[in-house]
Amino acid sequence: MIAVESLKFEIRLAEGRKVATVSSRKSPDMPKKTKTNVSRRGFIYGVGGGVLGPAVLDRAALAEPQPGTGRFTGPDAVPVSLSVNGKTHKLTLEPRVTLLDALRDQLDLTGAKAACDRGTCGSCTVLMNGKVVYACSVLAIDAQGKSIETIESITPEDPLIQAMARNDGTQCGFCSPGMVLAAKAFLARNPHPDEAQVESCLGGNLCRCGTYVPIRKAILEVARVGKGGRNA
Ligand code: FES
Ligand code: FES
Repeated sequence: MIAVESLKFEIRLAEGRKVATVSSRKSPDMPKKTKTNVSRRGFIYGVGGGVLGPAVLDRAALAEPQPGTGRFTGPDAVPVSLSVNGKTHKLTLEPRVTLLDALRDQLDLTGAKAACDRGTCGSCTVLMNGKVVYACSVLAIDAQGKSIETIESITPEDPLIQAMARNDGTQCGFCSPGMVLAAKAFLARNPHPDEAQVESCLGGNLCRCGTYVPIRKAILEVARVGKGGRNA
């Protein structure tokens, strides 16, 4: 039989920051209790570091009380300011509200579609500071201070929209807003792609109708005329 006389371990976040030291000691001259400087919330965050990964830890870090105030953000609604398609919107949202829900339910910008709602299909694609993001996987409070572009910012005269129409690059159209925005961000980075690059640029956007070939054709057509998908 092995008798454990004392036990001491530390809980650290992924980046190495120590969040807790937990120790216990079996000794007649010490009180028989576990001593810890970790709260229940801190313990959950610490253990979460091992299994949930950096993204969740970032959220956990945001949930720490604000220095000096001891107050947490939420769960009640808080003021949120979003810059969407060049316009600033002042909203009052619970911190758990996603950017997708804020766009669709609060701003009536319904171009970004809610499909899987778990960062898998790309139907909710928007641009944040010019980069493609899944709006269903970004909290609205985290989108503050960023420039958000939705499909509503693209005009019907846009070369990419025109090319999509010419090439029958849409069937039900559910994936089209996300496809167009993903393609625009891609062409801005890579104005003269080859076919394989176009195929990989759409890797994060699923088309349930399987319209991939005409969509790729439309993107290549825009690239060929050298406008990189920008508004004419
Ligand atoms: S709805 Fe956001 S990725 Fe599918
Ligand atoms: S056109 Fe229907 S999902 Fe793509």
